[in-house]
Amino acid sequence: MTDTRVVVVGAGPAGMLLSHLLDAAGIDNVVLERQSQAHVLGRIRAGVLEWGTVETLRAAGLGDRMDAEGHVHDTINIAWRGEEVLGINTHDLVGTRMMAYGQTRIQEDLFAAASDRGAEVIFEADDVALHDLDSDGPCVTYGGGERITCDFVAGCDGFHGVSRVSIPYGIRTEYEKVYPFGWLGILSETPPLSNLLYANHERGFALCSMRNPMLSRYYVQAPITDTVDDWSDDRFWTELFARLPVSQSEHIVTGPSIEKSLAPLRSYVCEPMRWGRLLLAGDAAHIVPPTGAKGLNLAVSDVRYLARAIATHYAGDDTYLDRYSSMALRRVWGSVRFSWWMTNLLHRFPDQTEFDQRAQEQELAYLASSVHAQRAMAEQYVGLPYE
Ligand code: APR
Ligand code: PHB
Repeated sequence: MTDTRVVVVGAGPAGMLLSHLLDAAGIDNVVLERQSQAHVLGRIRAGVLEWGTVETLRAAGLGDRMDAEGHVHDTINIAWRGEEVLGINTHDLVGTRMMAYGQTRIQEDLFAAASDRGAEVIFEADDVALHDLDSDGPCVTYGGGERITCDFVAGCDGFHGVSRVSIPYGIRTEYEKVYPFGWLGILSETPPLSNLLYANHERGFALCSMRNPMLSRYYVQAPITDTVDDWSDDRFWTELFARLPVSQSEHIVTGPSIEKSLAPLRSYVCEPMRWGRLLLAGDAAHIVPPTGAKGLNLAVSDVRYLARAIATHYAGDDTYLDRYSSMALRRVWGSVRFSWWMTNLLHRFPDQTEFDQRAQEQELAYLASSVHAQRAMAEQYVGLPYE
């Protein structure tokens, strides 16, 4: 049996950043991760950072490689009807830029920092179970009889973790929307377009994104019943090009895919994000469809609030701890609503009529004609301020 102040369940970006911030504040913690480190590092995820995320990582001393290798950009393009293209320059509109830096890189930086400070991260921890969360002395068990007592459990174990479901049904409320399609994504070692490009098309949504000057990420909306085997590289490129204006696709360099995956789209929020001594952060508490690029940014936002709440608790003030759930949820719902709006605006729904298609195109035309509408979008895309 060991004893610590905070057991962090999950070594994804939420759990590892929380452990980093707690160690910086001198608060003892242990991270328990179900998978191996190699498995966690092998996951390919999104890569657009809000400026608040960039500043949070820098302030935590995690910004060196991001600043050296990340790509600062200020324009997202939106295409529709296979011909129109609108550039949203977030710096001109709201004074803020974004950073393209893959989640995989952030995860590497977090593990490197953990190893430098000698953090206690236990990989391949099976059968993690949380106990006595509504008492002053919770504990966590795992493996063949290991047991850690603690003051708090931070549930950072993603959507399929054990933490959220440890909150009793009568206390937990869930809000959910499952979208009737997925995103088929590929990575290709080819130079990306210079700006992110989102496209609405009668054939379905498409997105062109980047990782670095020789690594591109592309997606097309696809039926969730498809498998990656249904999508040869040729079929993927043909479909992507069919959904984009030629003025954009003529700049795309095609090549073999080095990774291909199909991901479902879902919006989900669990309230509250605290129950007794359990505090949820990141995908353990909420999921957004990737359309607004908010998943990782929300995990960082939660962890910012959570690290402060725990640090001020040990300094004798519980104000932030008591407000953790409501403060975090305010930003969560802001991003959930924005991601839902972008998803509805840009995708082709199975029951969509020509009327619905025209209404989407009209909304995009309005966005193109109104600087006020563009500012509203830009402000939310780069991230609303923290409290
Ligand atoms: N015990 C221990 N660890 C667990 C358990 C469990 N029962 N269940 C899940 N985990 C681990 C997973 O293996 C994973 O490494 O918890 C971690 C959760 O990490 P993520 O799923 O990456 O979630 P989070 O850290 O909240 O990151 C936020 O932003 O871009 C989005 O969804 C994307 O992962 C991303 C997220
Ligand atoms: C990505 O680069 O993977 C990406 C970019 C923007 C999104 C979603 C994913 O909205």
